[in-house]
Amino acid sequence: MELVNRPRRLRSGEAVRRLCRETRLSPDSLIYPIFVDECLTGTRPIESLPGQYHYGLDSVHQAVAACRDAGVGSCILFGLPKHKDARGSSAWAKDGVVQEAIRAIKAADPDFYVITDVCLCEYTDHGHCGLLKGETVDNDPTLELLARTAVSHARAGADMVAPSDMMDGRVAAIREALDDAGFANTPILSYSAKYASAFYGPFRSAAGSAPAFGDRRGYQMDPHNAREALKECALDVEEGADLLMVKPALSYLDVIRQVRDNFDLPLCAYSVSGEYAMIKAAAAAGLVDEYRIMCESALSVFRAGADMLITYYAKELAQAIRKGDIG
Ligand code: PBG
Repeated sequence: MELVNRPRRLRSGEAVRRLCRETRLSPDSLIYPIFVDECLTGTRPIESLPGQYHYGLDSVHQAVAACRDAGVGSCILFGLPKHKDARGSSAWAKDGVVQEAIRAIKAADPDFYVITDVCLCEYTDHGHCGLLKGETVDNDPTLELLARTAVSHARAGADMVAPSDMMDGRVAAIREALDDAGFANTPILSYSAKYASAFYGPFRSAAGSAPAFGDRRGYQMDPHNAREALKECALDVEEGADLLMVKPALSYLDVIRQVRDNFDLPLCAYSVSGEYAMIKAAAAAGLVDEYRIMCESALSVFRAGADMLITYYAKELAQAIRKGDIG
Protein backbone atom coordinates (compact mmCIF):
# COMPACT_ATOMS: atom_id res chain seq x y z
CA MET A 1 0.00 0.00 0.00
CA GLU A 2 1.17 3.51 -0.85
CA LEU A 3 1.35 5.61 2.32
CA VAL A 4 3.20 8.60 0.97
CA ASN A 5 0.19 10.89 0.73
CA ARG A 6 -1.17 10.28 4.18
CA PRO A 7 0.60 13.11 6.07
CA ARG A 8 -0.45 15.61 3.43
CA ARG A 9 -4.09 14.74 3.91
CA LEU A 10 -3.73 16.00 7.46
CA ARG A 11 -2.59 19.35 6.14
CA SER A 12 -5.46 19.90 3.74
CA GLY A 13 -7.31 22.77 5.32
CA GLU A 14 -7.30 24.92 8.42
CA ALA A 15 -9.73 22.78 10.44
CA VAL A 16 -7.78 19.56 10.14
CA ARG A 17 -4.48 21.34 10.74
CA ARG A 18 -5.87 22.72 13.98
CA LEU A 19 -7.18 19.30 15.04
CA CYS A 20 -3.81 17.74 14.49
CA ARG A 21 -1.61 20.27 16.26
CA GLU A 22 0.86 18.46 18.48
CA THR A 23 1.65 21.47 20.64
CA ARG A 24 -1.10 23.25 22.56
CA LEU A 25 -0.66 26.67 24.08
CA SER A 26 -2.79 28.54 26.55
CA PRO A 27 -2.65 32.11 27.89
CA ASP A 28 -2.48 30.37 31.30
CA SER A 29 1.07 29.31 30.52
CA LEU A 30 2.40 32.82 29.89
CA ILE A 31 4.16 35.02 32.44
CA TYR A 32 4.78 38.73 31.86
CA PRO A 33 7.88 40.50 33.28
CA ILE A 34 7.10 43.79 35.04
CA PHE A 35 9.77 46.36 36.01
CA VAL A 36 8.94 48.67 38.89
CA ASP A 37 11.05 51.74 39.59
CA GLU A 38 10.89 53.17 43.10
CA CYS A 39 11.94 56.64 41.83
CA LEU A 40 9.33 56.85 39.10
CA THR A 41 5.86 58.36 39.00
CA GLY A 42 3.76 57.10 36.12
CA THR A 43 5.39 55.10 33.34
CA ARG A 44 8.53 55.47 31.21
CA PRO A 45 9.38 53.57 28.01
CA ILE A 46 12.35 51.21 28.33
CA GLU A 47 14.78 52.24 25.62
CA SER A 48 16.49 48.87 25.31
CA LEU A 49 13.14 47.03 25.08
CA PRO A 50 10.87 48.77 22.57
CA GLY A 51 7.23 48.47 23.61
CA GLN A 52 8.08 47.78 27.28
CA TYR A 53 7.74 50.21 30.21
CA HIS A 54 9.08 50.96 33.63
CA TYR A 55 6.22 51.43 36.08
CA GLY A 56 6.10 53.58 39.19
CA LEU A 57 4.49 52.18 42.32
CA ASP A 58 1.54 54.43 41.55
CA SER A 59 1.02 52.91 38.11
CA VAL A 60 1.99 49.23 38.40
CA HIS A 61 -1.72 48.37 38.57
CA GLN A 62 -1.96 49.55 34.95
CA ALA A 63 0.50 46.86 33.88
CA VAL A 64 -1.66 44.29 35.62
CA ALA A 65 -4.85 45.58 34.05
CA ALA A 66 -3.25 45.39 30.60
CA CYS A 67 -2.25 41.76 31.29
CA ARG A 68 -5.78 40.92 32.38
CA ASP A 69 -7.26 42.53 29.26
CA ALA A 70 -5.02 40.34 27.12
CA GLY A 71 -5.81 37.20 29.15
CA VAL A 72 -2.51 36.95 31.04
CA GLY A 73 -2.89 36.17 34.74
CA SER A 74 0.66 36.11 36.08
CA CYS A 75 3.79 38.21 36.20
CA ILE A 76 7.37 38.13 37.35
CA LEU A 77 8.43 41.27 39.18
CA PHE A 78 11.76 43.09 38.99
CA GLY A 79 12.61 46.11 41.12
CA LEU A 80 14.74 49.20 40.56
CA PRO A 81 15.48 50.51 44.06
CA LYS A 82 16.16 54.08 45.13
CA HIS A 83 19.14 53.01 47.18
CA LYS A 84 21.98 50.59 46.37
CA ASP A 85 24.82 49.44 48.62
CA ALA A 86 27.49 46.75 48.76
CA ARG A 87 25.14 44.22 50.38
CA GLY A 88 22.01 45.01 48.39
CA SER A 89 20.04 45.74 51.55
CA SER A 90 17.05 47.25 49.71
CA ALA A 91 16.37 43.75 48.36
CA TRP A 92 14.94 42.59 51.68
CA ALA A 93 13.62 45.92 53.00
CA LYS A 94 10.10 45.59 54.33
CA ASP A 95 9.03 48.61 52.29
CA GLY A 96 11.37 47.90 49.36
CA VAL A 97 10.25 48.46 45.79
CA VAL A 98 9.26 44.85 45.04
CA GLN A 99 7.54 44.44 48.41
CA GLU A 100 5.51 47.62 47.81
CA ALA A 101 4.77 46.62 44.21
CA ILE A 102 3.36 43.28 45.39
CA ARG A 103 1.08 45.12 47.81
CA ALA A 104 -0.05 47.53 45.09
CA ILE A 105 -0.81 44.67 42.68
CA LYS A 106 -2.65 42.62 45.26
CA ALA A 107 -4.69 45.66 46.31
CA ALA A 108 -5.78 46.17 42.70
CA ASP A 109 -6.23 42.52 41.73
CA PRO A 110 -5.86 39.98 44.56
CA ASP A 111 -5.97 36.96 42.23
CA PHE A 112 -3.26 38.14 39.87
CA TYR A 113 -0.42 35.65 40.33
CA VAL A 114 2.80 37.35 41.42
CA ILE A 115 6.18 35.68 41.05
CA THR A 116 9.21 37.62 42.29
CA ASP A 117 12.74 37.47 40.95
CA VAL A 118 15.05 36.90 43.93
CA CYS A 119 18.52 38.28 43.27
CA LEU A 120 20.83 40.99 44.55
CA CYS A 121 22.23 42.41 41.30
CA GLU A 122 19.63 45.17 41.00
CA TYR A 123 20.33 46.20 44.61
CA THR A 124 24.12 46.05 44.92
CA ASP A 125 26.23 49.07 43.96
CA HIS A 126 28.69 46.73 42.18
CA GLY A 127 25.94 44.96 40.19
CA HIS A 128 26.92 41.41 41.07
CA CYS A 129 24.35 38.85 42.21
CA GLY A 130 25.92 38.27 45.61
CA LEU A 131 28.27 39.61 48.26
CA LEU A 132 31.81 40.24 47.13
CA LYS A 133 35.07 39.10 48.67
CA GLY A 134 37.67 41.05 46.75
CA GLU A 135 36.46 40.75 43.18
CA THR A 136 34.73 37.38 43.44
CA VAL A 137 31.26 36.55 44.68
CA ASP A 138 31.23 35.00 48.13
CA ASN A 139 28.69 32.18 47.81
CA ASP A 140 27.85 31.09 51.35
CA PRO A 141 27.27 34.43 53.11
CA THR A 142 25.07 35.43 50.16
CA LEU A 143 22.63 32.60 50.87
CA GLU A 144 21.29 34.18 54.03
CA LEU A 145 20.62 37.47 52.23
CA LEU A 146 18.77 35.72 49.40
CA ALA A 147 16.71 33.77 51.93
CA ARG A 148 15.86 37.01 53.74
CA THR A 149 14.82 38.57 50.44
CA ALA A 150 12.59 35.63 49.50
CA VAL A 151 10.88 35.68 52.91
CA SER A 152 10.28 39.43 52.67
CA HIS A 153 8.63 38.91 49.27
CA ALA A 154 6.41 36.16 50.68
CA ARG A 155 5.47 38.37 53.64
CA ALA A 156 4.46 41.14 51.24
CA GLY A 157 2.16 38.66 49.45
CA ALA A 158 4.24 37.08 46.66
CA ASP A 159 2.69 33.84 45.39
CA MET A 160 5.96 32.29 44.22
CA VAL A 161 9.66 33.18 44.47
CA ALA A 162 12.19 32.70 41.69
CA PRO A 163 15.87 32.82 42.66
CA SER A 164 17.95 33.91 39.67
CA ASP A 165 21.32 34.46 41.35
CA MET A 166 22.80 31.00 40.65
CA MET A 167 24.54 30.70 44.04
CA ASP A 168 25.13 27.09 45.12
CA GLY A 169 22.71 25.97 47.81
CA ARG A 170 20.30 28.86 47.49
CA VAL A 171 17.20 26.74 46.89
CA ALA A 172 17.76 24.81 50.14
CA ALA A 173 18.49 28.03 52.06
CA ILE A 174 15.35 29.72 50.71
CA ARG A 175 13.16 26.65 51.31
CA GLU A 176 14.27 26.41 54.92
CA ALA A 177 13.78 30.12 55.55
CA LEU A 178 10.32 30.13 53.93
CA ASP A 179 9.26 27.09 55.96
CA ASP A 180 10.53 28.63 59.21
CA ALA A 181 8.68 31.87 58.49
CA GLY A 182 5.38 30.04 57.90
CA PHE A 183 5.47 29.98 54.10
CA ALA A 184 5.70 26.24 53.56
CA ASN A 185 3.18 26.56 50.73
CA THR A 186 5.10 29.17 48.76
CA PRO A 187 6.65 27.41 45.74
CA ILE A 188 10.17 28.02 44.48
CA LEU A 189 10.74 28.43 40.76
CA SER A 190 14.46 27.93 40.43
CA TYR A 191 16.42 29.49 37.59
CA SER A 192 18.15 26.10 37.44
CA ALA A 193 19.96 26.24 34.13
CA LYS A 194 20.82 29.89 33.71
CA TYR A 195 23.54 30.51 31.19
CA ALA A 196 26.11 33.31 31.22
CA SER A 197 24.49 34.84 28.17
CA ALA A 198 24.91 37.93 26.02
CA PHE A 199 21.13 37.83 25.53
CA TYR A 200 20.60 39.58 28.90
CA GLY A 201 22.08 42.86 27.64
CA PRO A 202 18.83 44.84 27.20
CA PHE A 203 17.56 43.63 30.61
CA ARG A 204 20.68 44.87 32.34
CA SER A 205 20.26 48.34 30.95
CA ALA A 206 16.54 48.21 31.82
CA ALA A 207 17.17 47.03 35.38
CA GLY A 208 20.40 48.94 35.96
CA SER A 209 22.05 45.66 36.95
CA ALA A 210 25.12 45.37 34.73
CA PRO A 211 28.15 44.34 36.78
CA ALA A 212 30.50 47.30 37.42
CA PHE A 213 33.49 45.07 36.64
CA GLY A 214 34.03 41.52 35.41
CA ASP A 215 31.16 39.28 34.33
CA ARG A 216 28.88 36.57 35.71
CA ARG A 217 30.75 33.58 34.35
CA GLY A 218 31.86 32.64 37.86
CA TYR A 219 28.28 31.74 38.82
CA GLN A 220 26.24 31.42 35.63
CA MET A 221 26.57 28.45 33.26
CA ASP A 222 28.93 27.98 30.33
CA PRO A 223 26.99 27.89 27.02
CA HIS A 224 29.16 24.97 25.95
CA ASN A 225 27.49 22.70 28.48
CA ALA A 226 24.20 20.79 28.48
CA ARG A 227 24.97 17.86 30.80
CA GLU A 228 25.90 20.40 33.44
CA ALA A 229 22.36 21.80 33.19
CA LEU A 230 20.98 18.39 34.17
CA LYS A 231 23.31 18.34 37.14
CA GLU A 232 22.15 21.81 38.22
CA CYS A 233 18.53 20.68 37.91
CA ALA A 234 19.18 17.51 39.93
CA LEU A 235 20.71 19.58 42.74
CA ASP A 236 17.78 21.99 42.71
CA VAL A 237 15.29 19.12 42.85
CA GLU A 238 17.18 17.66 45.80
CA GLU A 239 17.15 21.04 47.54
CA GLY A 240 13.38 21.36 47.18
CA ALA A 241 12.71 23.32 44.00
CA ASP A 242 9.07 23.09 42.88
CA LEU A 243 9.60 24.24 39.30
CA LEU A 244 12.69 24.34 37.10
CA MET A 245 13.75 26.95 34.58
CA VAL A 246 15.94 27.08 31.50
CA LYS A 247 17.16 30.53 30.43
CA PRO A 248 17.57 31.90 27.75
CA ALA A 249 15.05 29.95 25.64
CA LEU A 250 15.65 30.01 21.91
CA SER A 251 19.37 29.21 21.91
CA TYR A 252 18.83 26.48 24.53
CA LEU A 253 15.96 24.43 23.10
CA ASP A 254 18.11 21.30 23.36
CA VAL A 255 18.51 21.96 27.09
CA ILE A 256 14.75 22.48 27.49
CA ARG A 257 14.13 19.14 25.78
CA GLN A 258 16.68 17.31 27.92
CA VAL A 259 15.38 18.79 31.17
CA ARG A 260 11.83 17.86 30.11
CA ASP A 261 12.91 14.27 29.41
CA ASN A 262 14.88 13.87 32.62
CA PHE A 263 12.73 15.57 35.26
CA ASP A 264 9.07 15.46 36.22
CA LEU A 265 8.80 18.95 37.67
CA PRO A 266 6.98 21.70 35.80
CA LEU A 267 9.40 23.42 33.45
CA CYS A 268 9.55 27.13 32.73
CA ALA A 269 11.53 28.75 29.92
CA TYR A 270 12.54 32.40 29.92
CA SER A 271 12.57 34.09 26.55
CA VAL A 272 14.95 36.84 27.60
CA SER A 273 15.40 40.49 26.75
CA GLY A 274 17.88 39.98 23.90
CA GLU A 275 15.57 37.49 22.18
CA TYR A 276 12.77 40.06 22.29
CA ALA A 277 14.95 43.02 21.31
CA MET A 278 16.35 41.19 18.28
CA ILE A 279 12.89 40.45 16.91
CA LYS A 280 11.85 44.05 17.54
CA ALA A 281 14.97 45.41 15.80
CA ALA A 282 14.66 43.09 12.82
CA ALA A 283 10.98 43.94 12.47
CA ALA A 284 11.66 47.70 12.75
CA ALA A 285 14.20 47.31 9.94
CA GLY A 286 11.51 45.64 7.84
CA LEU A 287 13.44 42.38 7.70
CA VAL A 288 10.95 40.00 9.30
CA ASP A 289 7.24 39.65 10.04
CA GLU A 290 7.18 40.37 13.78
CA TYR A 291 3.88 38.66 14.51
CA ARG A 292 4.79 35.42 12.79
CA ILE A 293 8.30 35.35 14.25
CA MET A 294 6.86 35.93 17.72
CA CYS A 295 4.41 33.05 17.28
CA GLU A 296 6.94 30.65 15.80
CA SER A 297 9.55 31.40 18.48
CA ALA A 298 7.07 30.77 21.30
CA LEU A 299 5.81 27.59 19.66
CA SER A 300 9.32 26.19 19.40
CA VAL A 301 9.86 26.64 23.13
CA PHE A 302 6.68 24.73 23.98
CA ARG A 303 7.41 22.09 21.34
CA ALA A 304 10.82 21.61 22.98
CA GLY A 305 9.00 20.72 26.19
CA ALA A 306 8.43 23.83 28.28
CA ASP A 307 5.20 24.00 30.29
CA MET A 308 5.27 27.77 30.71
CA LEU A 309 7.05 30.75 29.25
CA ILE A 310 8.22 34.06 30.66
CA THR A 311 8.12 36.48 27.76
CA TYR A 312 7.94 40.21 27.00
CA TYR A 313 5.44 39.19 24.30
CA ALA A 314 3.07 37.54 26.82
CA LYS A 315 0.13 39.85 26.08
CA GLU A 316 0.50 39.68 22.28
CA LEU A 317 0.92 35.90 22.43
CA ALA A 318 -2.17 35.50 24.59
CA GLN A 319 -4.11 37.37 21.92
CA ALA A 320 -2.61 35.23 19.17
CA ILE A 321 -3.71 32.13 21.07
CA ARG A 322 -7.21 33.54 21.55
CA LYS A 323 -7.44 34.24 17.83
CA GLY A 324 -6.33 30.68 17.09
CA ASP A 325 -3.21 31.72 15.17
CA ILE A 326 -1.27 29.44 17.51
CA GLY A 327 -2.24 26.99 20.22
C1 PBG B 1 18.88 38.86 37.62
C2 PBG B 1 18.24 38.52 36.32
C3 PBG B 1 18.70 38.75 35.01
C4 PBG B 1 17.67 38.36 34.16
C5 PBG B 1 16.64 37.87 34.95
N1 PBG B 1 17.02 37.97 36.27
C6 PBG B 1 19.96 39.36 34.51
C7 PBG B 1 21.27 38.72 34.68
O1 PBG B 1 21.41 37.59 35.16
O2 PBG B 1 22.24 39.41 34.37
C8 PBG B 1 17.68 38.47 32.67
C9 PBG B 1 16.35 38.58 32.01
C10 PBG B 1 16.35 39.05 30.59
O3 PBG B 1 17.39 39.25 29.94
O4 PBG B 1 15.24 39.27 30.08
N2 PBG B 1 20.03 38.18 37.93
